[in-house]
Amino acid sequence: MSDAKMQSVLSSLSQVARQLEALPSDRPAPDTSCVKLNTNENPFPLPTIIMQSAIAALERQYLYPEDDNISLREAAANAYGVSKDQVIAGNGSSELLGLIYRAFLAPGDSVAMMSPGFSFNRKLAMLQGAQFLEIGCGEAHSLPVEQLLFGPAKDAKFILLANPNNPTGTFVPVADIERLLAQSDRLIVLDEAYVDFAPDNGLRLIDRYSNLLVLRTFSKSYATAGVRVGFGFGHPEIIGRLRNIQNVFNMNVIGHAVGISILAHRDAYADNHKHIKRERQRVTLALLQLGFSVAPSHANFVLARAPAGQDGSWWQAALERQKILVAFFPDKGLENYIRVSIGTKEQMDAFLAAARDISGSLKMPRSRRWAASGSASALRGR
Ligand SMILES: Cc1ncc(COP(=O)(O)O)c(C=O)c1O
Repeated sequence: MSDAKMQSVLSSLSQVARQLEALPSDRPAPDTSCVKLNTNENPFPLPTIIMQSAIAALERQYLYPEDDNISLREAAANAYGVSKDQVIAGNGSSELLGLIYRAFLAPGDSVAMMSPGFSFNRKLAMLQGAQFLEIGCGEAHSLPVEQLLFGPAKDAKFILLANPNNPTGTFVPVADIERLLAQSDRLIVLDEAYVDFAPDNGLRLIDRYSNLLVLRTFSKSYATAGVRVGFGFGHPEIIGRLRNIQNVFNMNVIGHAVGISILAHRDAYADNHKHIKRERQRVTLALLQLGFSVAPSHANFVLARAPAGQDGSWWQAALERQKILVAFFPDKGLENYIRVSIGTKEQMDAFLAAARDISGSLKMPRSRRWAASGSASALRGR
């Protein structure tokens, strides 16, 4: 295309799309030799019976997947004790988040999220031309009910709460969420991506509050981030409208088969969930010993504040040099934190060995640190 044609095509982009630059074409593929603890996956194989259902589904590869995800929605309705018109199935819960933003927000509208929160929501709001209001949950990580009801968020079209929250891992009592639901007539989207690692959940509230939409995903607690299975539960009127604006064939035959099989064998994951909670505790204690502060987590990750005078991006880079990937958030207030996903025992051993090594090298006299870290730039980045 000539430059003039390209300029003409680009000038047709919507105002919102124009604000986002084209992604660079030379993005490197991820280094698969690294221990990946940066996106809260659950790095365990599928139980055999579920794997068999995935393989069998490939024999139906020539068929379009079932329209409206009917069998999967029926299976979810049976497993969770709701009716199938209260269930929407998604290509991961992020697809469902996108649908909710499209359905409820027009340019100039606003949406509120408990902050810090799942940053993908910021982009979804931006794509709708909507204002994104972040309502701080404070040091106590409690639900800011009054602010959500009467503060700057009082006109937001909907309110987003993740419980347990990402990236903090903290959990607010379901009774507090019920208080908000009872006093508000706006939609409350309760994102329960990590709820299987937590002590309670809010699904039982959907029959009592028609302004509640609960989101779940199988990416975290059922180890299928790459298969893409998520659900939304709520009032049939809201669910039906979301289903009506969803892509046809939003999922695929493997996602359907794996989702149905997991729903029939959820107990096969009990040991996995026990393991993650145990490792979460072990990693928390070990990080505390290294001088980090760690908020008690109810998810499959921990958010750790680096010891005084050290920042999160420096720790992320130092760990990456040892081939350990953790998450860092440049957002205000999170500069001193890293978020570490909980994986296998071997992965967590590798993470802790690297963290101890880095921490130990920081205590050495400056002249010896460089040799120990193997790289002068290890400390220049601080
Ligand atoms: C709070 C929260 N919600 C939703 C998602 C999206 O999960 P998925 O699209 O894999 O279902 C994530 C993923 O990290 C998350 O942390």
